[in-house]
Amino acid sequence: MVVMRDLQSIKQRFSIIGNYEGLNRALDIAVQVAGTDLSVVISGESGTGKEIFPQVIHNFSSRKHGPYIAVNCGAIPEGTIDSELFGHEKGAFTGATDSRKGYFEVADGGTIFLDEVAELPLSTQVRLLRVLETGEFIRVGSSKVQKTDVRVIAASNVDIPRAVESGKFREDLFYRLNTVPIRVPALRERGVDIILLFRKFATDFSEKYNMPAIKPDADAKSLLINYSWPGNVRQLKNITEQISIIEKEREITYEILKSYLPDDRSEKLPALLGKEDDKSFSSEREILYKILFDMKSDMTDLKKLVYDLMRENETPFNRPEPEEPHRPTPEKVTIDIPPLHARQEHIQDTEELVEESLSLTDKEVEMIRKALEKNGGKRKAAAQELGISERTLYRKIKEYDITI
Ligand SMILES: Nc1ncnc2c1ncn2[C@@H]1O[C@H](COP(=O)(O)OP(=O)(O)OP(=O)(O)O)[C@@H](O)[C@H]1O
Ligand SMILES: [Mg+2]
Repeated sequence: MVVMRDLQSIKQRFSIIGNYEGLNRALDIAVQVAGTDLSVVISGESGTGKEIFPQVIHNFSSRKHGPYIAVNCGAIPEGTIDSELFGHEKGAFTGATDSRKGYFEVADGGTIFLDEVAELPLSTQVRLLRVLETGEFIRVGSSKVQKTDVRVIAASNVDIPRAVESGKFREDLFYRLNTVPIRVPALRERGVDIILLFRKFATDFSEKYNMPAIKPDADAKSLLINYSWPGNVRQLKNITEQISIIEKEREITYEILKSYLPDDRSEKLPALLGKEDDKSFSSEREILYKILFDMKSDMTDLKKLVYDLMRENETPFNRPEPEEPHRPTPEKVTIDIPPLHARQEHIQDTEELVEESLSLTDKEVEMIRKALEKNGGKRKAAAQELGISERTLYRKIKEYDITI
């Protein structure tokens, strides 16, 4: 058992927030097992914070000066995964113009983190089992057996035993991998940790966007603790960012917070968010998205208006009336825009607003790019994760010319 004081310093070092017993236990196991070469499977719902655990294990192991490679197995196309993991020889397949080392060869002496391990095709699972059992692997297109010394840590947000039952995951591989299981608790179990996390994210975003931090009032705090958080810490973080940007008030009430949380029905059915045919907007996130989009358009208008005014001041004579500013509104928006008027009075604030507008666009593009990358370029899955319709996503990809 790692003493409490050490656990606190580990949390500090890895920016892990929370004192919930289940989280402490998971961290404790990670540190205990780090010094061994046992393989570890980290399980937990999506967004619970699984990705930090393999880093803790690697950094507390004797391999810490060796390479650490994180591979998202769900994001690599089935056709190339063997070559990515185990390398290939020149001419092994069309397009293989050179030979290439795979991650297991590169990570020799270090650690590989196989995220979303349940997504591996069965044929790759066979190769993985072999490297786990004997340290041997063969590059695609080669017949030469090579050796590597790699510690494997895997993670999954789906129930692997169930995948074993349905024949999608090899049972022998599961037992070989799962020598030490670590379970990362869901956010809804963590009680007051949720408030600590909210506070941490609110502070981070206040620094990022250069504004005072939002604070929940007493009722909002109890909502934070009692909500079911289907998207766990990731959802809490996203919502804290949205509220920080959109709300003018810094004290967050129950009502404000509630308006950012999908209701009970959608909580249980996240995949139904953003249903296209629901005219009244089926998801509040979609609404928020539109607010953000609209704020951005307003800022663009404002920028143009100020620019026109400045030009007018420079050439007071013979200037034609400024044109009606063109407003890029590619879609119908049926909600009220949060009042920006107070700020519009201060023209000196414009630059700040324009900057903010740019950073909102960046944020939007970044969110879309991340969702696409995470879902291996699959637009349907990415749209679901973002809580917007596939059509909206498609339009935004075109609008911002996003490629991954
Ligand atoms: N205890 C924590 N303290 C601070 N930040 C956290 C904590 N847990 C998670 N996070 C943050 O929450 C976000 C989601 O975590 P992470 O990406 O590790 O989730 P995950 O379990 O890998 O989810 P998925 O299964 O969907 O990949 C990250 O930004 C991470 O930094
Ligand atoms: Mg992850």
